[in-house]
Amino acid sequence: MSHDAPHLDFAGSTPYEDYVKADVLTHLQHPLSDDPGEMVFLVTTQVMELWFTVIVHEWETAARALREDRVRAATDALKRSVRELEALNASWTPLAGLTPAQFNSYRGALGEGSGFQSAMYRRLEFLLGEKSASMLVPHRGTPRAHAELEKALHEPSLYDEVIRLLARRGYAVPDAVLRRDVSRPYEPVPEVEAAWTAVYSGDQNGELARLGEALTDVAELVWRWRNDHLVATRRAMGAKTGTGGSAGVAWLEKRARKNVFPELWTARSYV
Ligand code: HEM
Repeated sequence: MSHDAPHLDFAGSTPYEDYVKADVLTHLQHPLSDDPGEMVFLVTTQVMELWFTVIVHEWETAARALREDRVRAATDALKRSVRELEALNASWTPLAGLTPAQFNSYRGALGEGSGFQSAMYRRLEFLLGEKSASMLVPHRGTPRAHAELEKALHEPSLYDEVIRLLARRGYAVPDAVLRRDVSRPYEPVPEVEAAWTAVYSGDQNGELARLGEALTDVAELVWRWRNDHLVATRRAMGAKTGTGGSAGVAWLEKRARKNVFPELWTARSYV
C-alpha cells in the first residue's frame, strides 16, 4: 500500500459517515408509486427542505446579530443566504418541465401530501415577517416541528429586527411598530418606507444601505422561488386543485404576489 493513497481501514464507520450521515440521508427515499419519475420529485423536495434548513439558520443568525448591533455579521449571513437561495432556485431544473401526464403517474400516490405542509418553509416565511398562527395547525401531530414553529411565531422576525435597528440608528419608527404583536403578519408603514428612502438617498456604501441591498436580494430570490414554483405547477397540473386542497395555481398566484420586505420596494419610488 503506497503512503500517498487515502486510508482504507477504519475500525467502525468512516469519519465521513460519522460527520455527513450519508448512509441515513441516502436511505430516506421511499417513493409511493412504481413510477420511475417519482424519485426525482421526492429527492428535489428533500433537497429543497435541506436548503430551507440552511437558509433558516442563516436568517436566525442574522436576526440575532442585528439584535446585538453586529450589522456586519448580519449582512455576511444574509449574503451567504443569497448564494444558498440561488442554489435552492436552481434545484427547480429537474421538475421545471414536468408534463401533466408525467406528474399524473405518481400524483395520486401523494394523497393529500403537499409542500403546503412543510414546517421548514413556514419557518422561513415567519422569519420574513409573514406570520400566521393558523399555519401551526397542520403540525399539531408532530411535536418538534410544532414547538419550533410556535417559538418562531412569537419571536421577532428578521425584518422586525431590521426595523428595530433602524430605530436605534435614529430613524423615526412609530412605537406601535416597535411594540407590535410580532406573532401577527407584518404590515407596511409609511415611516419605515421613509427610513429606507433616507438610507437609499445617503451613502451607498454605508452599513445600512448594504444591509438593505442584501435584504433586497433575499426578497427578490424568495419571489423567484415562488414564481418558479408557480410556473412548474402550471405546467404540471394546469388549473386542477392541489393535493393539499387549495385551488392550486390560482391560490399560488395570490401567494406569489406578496412583496417580501415591502417598504424596501416602495421606497425606491422616492429616492
Ligand atoms: C412540479 C411539482 C409541484 C407541484 C405541481 C406543486 C403544487 C403545489 C400546489 C398546488 C400547492 C398549493 C397547496 C395545495 O393545494 O397543495 C403547493 C404548495 C406548496 N408547495 Fe408545491 N408543488 C410542486 C413542487 C414542490 C416542491 C419540489 C416543493 C419543495 C419543497 C414545493 C413546496 C411547496 C410549498 C412550500 C408550498 C406552500 C406555499 C405557500 O404556503 O405559499 N412544491 N404546491
